[in-house]
Amino acid sequence: MSMTRRRFTIVAAASGVSLTVLGCGGDDGGDENSQSGAGGTGTGPDKAVKKKPKLATEPFLIGTPERYRGAGVYPDYRDDKGVWIVSDGQSLVALNALCTHLACMTELDMPSQQFSCPCHESRFDFQGVNQAGSKAKRPLERCAVRLMANGSMQQIEVDPTRRFRKDKDQWSDPASMFRF
Ligand code: FES
Repeated sequence: MSMTRRRFTIVAAASGVSLTVLGCGGDDGGDENSQSGAGGTGTGPDKAVKKKPKLATEPFLIGTPERYRGAGVYPDYRDDKGVWIVSDGQSLVALNALCTHLACMTELDMPSQQFSCPCHESRFDFQGVNQAGSKAKRPLERCAVRLMANGSMQQIEVDPTRRFRKDKDQWSDPASMFRF
């Protein structure tokens, strides 16, 4: 199943406020999207201080479903956890933000409504699907999402240790998408 195709905005999950400015920030198969990938774009002195992008290695909570009712891209967990949260208002996915070419961290390109990779210019739509002409030959991976009881509250948990690949027909797994 696919998410509704529509125009997305950037949304800060903590406040639910939509932003109008441009924000920027494997399977195991390791062909491309392994944690040992390119890991950054810097050269020269800058390179030493750049943090290698990584996907979180443990499940984490992202808040209540209500936070994500507004359709948009939620960048809150991209820097620390390596995950884009994307909601179309009816369903939500957590995309591994590491490019499936050589694992650079993707960025938001709101004007084109795509994720872009700064390393070799691969592009993905907000469903995570790689675009024609990209070096990345497969879509971004989805991380498992589910509703978890957290005290008296129900929160969405993202599990980056369980990932789903479209090219392996794993996006049909119900765990790859949360439905409101
Ligand atoms: S790492 Fe090469 S296009 Fe993303």
